Amino acid sequence: MNTKLLTLHSYIKTGTLDTEDLEKIEEAAKVLRKGGLVAFPTETVYGLGGNALYKDASKHIYEAKGRPSDNPLIVHISDLSQMEQIAARIPESARLMAEACWPGPLTMIFPKADCIPRETTGGLDTVAVRFPSHPVAMELIRRAKVPVAAPSANLSGRPSTTTARHCLEDLSGRVDMILDGGSCDIGLESTILDMSGDQPRLLRPGAVTREMIAEILGTVPAEDVALKGPLAPGVKPKAPGMKYRHYAPKAPMVIVTDREGNGKTADTILRLIHEKETEQPETRIAVICTEECQQELLQKGFPVEGHILKTCGSRKNKDSIAHNLFELLREMDEEDAGFIITEGCSEEDLGQAVMNRMKKAAAWQIVTT
Ligand code: TXA
Ligand code: MG
Repeated sequence: MNTKLLTLHSYIKTGTLDTEDLEKIEEAAKVLRKGGLVAFPTETVYGLGGNALYKDASKHIYEAKGRPSDNPLIVHISDLSQMEQIAARIPESARLMAEACWPGPLTMIFPKADCIPRETTGGLDTVAVRFPSHPVAMELIRRAKVPVAAPSANLSGRPSTTTARHCLEDLSGRVDMILDGGSCDIGLESTILDMSGDQPRLLRPGAVTREMIAEILGTVPAEDVALKGPLAPGVKPKAPGMKYRHYAPKAPMVIVTDREGNGKTADTILRLIHEKETEQPETRIAVICTEECQQELLQKGFPVEGHILKTCGSRKNKDSIAHNLFELLREMDEEDAGFIITEGCSEEDLGQAVMNRMKKAAAWQIVTT
């Protein structure tokens, strides 16, 4: 299959869609209407879209990603009336969340309506619904005139894609079209809140934070087991996708966190480098850390020769850490890193989502300073 790349030049340059961009989005909508697959930008990560009502489109999504078919897809909508069509029961708390956060980086799980095939929901009786705020995603779904099933547009097991270049790397020859709308703002996937049980339950943290949910609903949401630690054998997370070690680069990874606030992150990283060098002198070590830590590492004689040092932004700015994380994890593969050390952050606000993705990438290998 030949994958067509359409670049939305005006949107990338100015943030607004011009006539040419709209024609390209219309072409992509036509592909979706005909049952094909289109990768498109959202405010979180790129999605790999297909018609959510058409079971063969969902099957093709699983094939293109190499994704296990028990891992359900998120259904994207472009107006609230579509939620009523695809969800069989919507509690009042979900309406409050929708009003406060949609369009935006929130996915909610509901009992599914009959129009959603089980191929889309990985065999479950529930459906995940998201109303994205990215102008390209909104325009595409509106023009497709159907809800759009879209997992993240990466090969299964790899970090989610935040640029069209990453989508091409993973999906070239496997999908009909890629819409290039530049790099995704948030850089981490949406928050998933399960609204199908007795109480709201957080299944995956994202840019709609636990603190924001607590403020909107008046109670802190319960949290799925998958957020608390490595899953014991046989324990199933509520979101099937959370059981996979994904977001992961090829090399083993460890997180250094300064839980005590003793400011020893750089020292601990240097100690780990030294230990690794002694143990396996051939290994190319990569460090992903904040600008503050990078400065300290260089002052203290970080052994630049042969190793990699990358920064994800300032410690004060979790948005930029979130925005850069997946791109940096992909670079680790490109640069052939053999061992990766990342600086963790506090788990407040967006930090919970950042640390959740880091822990999964590191298979929960954490060193506390
Ligand atoms: O930001 C996002 O959510 C991106 C963009 C494209 O919208 N999409 C995304 O999709 O991250 P995906 O498929 O990579 O992750 C969806 C997660 C998986 O962990 C899946 O198991 C879970 O949502 N999920 C989907 N439907 C579910 C359901 N009915 N019950 C529980 N978990 C569900
Ligand atoms: Mg994914």
